[in-house]
Amino acid sequence: MRPLQLRLLPDTSEVVEGRLHVGGCDLVDLASEFGTPLFVYDEDHLRARCREAVAAFGDDVAYATKAFLCKAMAKLAHEEGMKLDVATGGELHVALAAGVPADRLVMHGNNKSALELELAVEHGVGRIVVDSFDELARLDQLHAHTGVVPKILLRLTPGVEAHTHEFIATGQDDSKFGFTVSTGAAAAAITRASESRSVELVGVHAHIGSQVFAVSSFTKAVAVIAAVAEPYGLPELSIGGGLGVAYIADEIAPSISDWGRSVRDACLDAGVTADVSAEPGRSIVASAAVTLYSVGTVKEVSGIRTFVAVDGGMSDNPRPVLYGSGYETFLPRDVSAERPDIVRVVGKHCESGDVLVRDAAVPADLKVGDILATPVTGAYGHSMGSNYNKVLRPAVVFVSGGDARLVVRRETYDDLLRLDL
Ligand SMILES: Cc1ncc(COP(=O)(O)O)c(C=O)c1O
Repeated sequence: MRPLQLRLLPDTSEVVEGRLHVGGCDLVDLASEFGTPLFVYDEDHLRARCREAVAAFGDDVAYATKAFLCKAMAKLAHEEGMKLDVATGGELHVALAAGVPADRLVMHGNNKSALELELAVEHGVGRIVVDSFDELARLDQLHAHTGVVPKILLRLTPGVEAHTHEFIATGQDDSKFGFTVSTGAAAAAITRASESRSVELVGVHAHIGSQVFAVSSFTKAVAVIAAVAEPYGLPELSIGGGLGVAYIADEIAPSISDWGRSVRDACLDAGVTADVSAEPGRSIVASAAVTLYSVGTVKEVSGIRTFVAVDGGMSDNPRPVLYGSGYETFLPRDVSAERPDIVRVVGKHCESGDVLVRDAAVPADLKVGDILATPVTGAYGHSMGSNYNKVLRPAVVFVSGGDARLVVRRETYDDLLRLDL
């Protein structure tokens, strides 16, 4: 099997005497210093993708924090000129704690509680993206108490298949999200919100799904939502997030710039006069990070397969279990090595399903004690993680210019008890 394709690695990756350095730091040394499992993010890569998004869509473009959120990431995206999309009171809390001004926040969620809406209004978030008629009713009640008139967008469901995993497809009619265009709910919601005195309707939004490679799916969505919304002359239109990224060899994804150009062209074709923005998450952070694990056991089941067990698993990367997602593996001590052996990389949880890489190509000399890495783990890994089996959540470091900065410390055994009474 071929060596790892280096294009899957973070931007500042360099091979120095066979070993992988990211942000000027040797990954094997980082594993010794901070322990494993460890998320290593290339800070320059993160900043470059944020700037690319701002160049493609302007400064209303929002980073979708669900992909990866901690105070350092919120601060970085804000510093680079992005707004932040927060989808719960929890994400709102972290973004505010990071010092992001509330007017640079966009509040999402298909079932925002009265308390979450109250928090959003109280802090003065810039935009609320309203998902349902029940939410409009909740905003009426809130207005009656506070007198505040928040600026809102309506999330429309355009009936577009995103050609991605069914759990992350959201643009089709059979979806829990948004106001469906084909049933007339979208037009009814626009009428209802534009006549309301509790909210100021400034635009429409659509998010068709995640890990979408076909830019044509976005352009179809633009055509559908433009047809419903344009007659109202609303000033803002957001095409959501969802741009796919390459996780494994031979997968090719459009860049954020390509995506921006296609969406803008589609808006021109559809006669859209509104300011057009977007909410990328994965495409900002996914390939910025690699996860480092220590190999603990190698079990050969003769005639069947070899299991390589590492010190993390479904608790730091649930994507393989949830969506059957594929990943590559490599040894940072010899990043360009041939990978002739196929093994199953598994975690340490009490589940046979706890698989990180189903058919992983690895070098022939992989052994217990090695640091093994999976690239493209920056999105929906740390953020979707758990501490199932009371496995401690990993630390996160940002690397840049030869410095490694711990931005999320490793969970401790005491942390596991902090909620118990
Ligand atoms: C409303 C909304 N916006 C943006 C995103 C970010 O999507 P992605 O990380 O695929 O870019 C999501 C992801 O689920 C979403 O639900």
